[in-house]
Amino acid sequence: MFLKLKNCHNIKDFRKLAKQRIPSPLFHYIDGGSDDEFTLNRNTEAFNKCSLIPNVLAGIKKVDLSCTLFGTKMDMPFFFSPTAMQRLFHHDGEKAVARVADREGLMVGVSTIGTVSIEELANITKCPKIFQLYIHKDKALTYDLINRVKAANYNAIALTVDTVVGGNRERDLYTGMTTPPKLTLKSLLSFVAHPEWTLNYIFRKKFELAQVKDYIKQGSDITSSIVDYINDQMEPSVSWDDAKDAIKKWNGPFALKGIASVEDAKKAVDIGATAIMISNHGGRQLDGSVSPFDILPEIVDAVGDKLEIILDGGIRRGTHILKALSLGAKACSGGRIYLYALAGGGEKGVQRIVTKLKEELNRDMMLMGCDSIKKLNKKNIKFI
Ligand code: LAC
Repeated sequence: MFLKLKNCHNIKDFRKLAKQRIPSPLFHYIDGGSDDEFTLNRNTEAFNKCSLIPNVLAGIKKVDLSCTLFGTKMDMPFFFSPTAMQRLFHHDGEKAVARVADREGLMVGVSTIGTVSIEELANITKCPKIFQLYIHKDKALTYDLINRVKAANYNAIALTVDTVVGGNRERDLYTGMTTPPKLTLKSLLSFVAHPEWTLNYIFRKKFELAQVKDYIKQGSDITSSIVDYINDQMEPSVSWDDAKDAIKKWNGPFALKGIASVEDAKKAVDIGATAIMISNHGGRQLDGSVSPFDILPEIVDAVGDKLEIILDGGIRRGTHILKALSLGAKACSGGRIYLYALAGGGEKGVQRIVTKLKEELNRDMMLMGCDSIKKLNKKNIKFI
């Protein structure tokens, strides 16, 4: 059945819409994980190992979903995780996502491998922004990015620490996904079958990696796979000292993104990070690694009072966010949840998924008998 945006009510629908709207190499790039996709699937399944315990007759008139993260107030405890190359999925790319964040009081993540520049996003939107940094082999480029983000008044930096080498994304090998996309005999049919996307790609602004294009040839002129880009450009031997240097250079709210162990969470505190994003990169890096929700309680016990804990990955429903918050996460973030919507419907798509998620959160909190997300706690959860 041909699906329309107005008939999309949940992330499964948006995923279907995205599949319909964009060529298959791009869809599978968003949708896929590494190796056997165990971790990709576990990230969401993990939420089913416990249930919510509601309280009734709570006399609630209004729910407060607001939260403060990185010293900034947000209208809901969820933000857009930084993701790469959004203009590949819709010609407005990061602009569409940031505009929705602006309108809805959310924070937006801006990627080092983004396709709209740090400065342009700062000029067109006022929403809180977190810049996702990779430590490149080229240290000058890395530090330059920090300076540019500072000049553009971003609120925080998230240093990605789970990507010292690219994960094994076999779907991309099968589909021949490259950046920018290449027309090959294999992918030709898929591009022809999606003329709207293909015409936009050809006639709109040239695709480039806006943050790095002036430093690296792969930013604009060379076609490679994203995994080759990571392996060529990122520093594989990146260490705690490098993270500490970046924290010093930034000198403000700073998250390590990709923490998955109690030991590393403690080290993050030691080097002065103000937040961690418990994440396995959406199951795109080490397959078989622990899901954020499975490890959350242990990390909260160890460092919950020392830094802000963000659960990144696997969120498909408002109730997933409520479960994470009940166990001590300050907020949640996600990538696919809005990328499917961006691919399926541009800004309107992203707007619709956020509206749906906000509605879900409000309804779920009413049904929980809880008027503020700050009141959620362990007593709201039963492990089964
Ligand atoms: C990804 C990176 C580049 O494809 O964030 O997962």
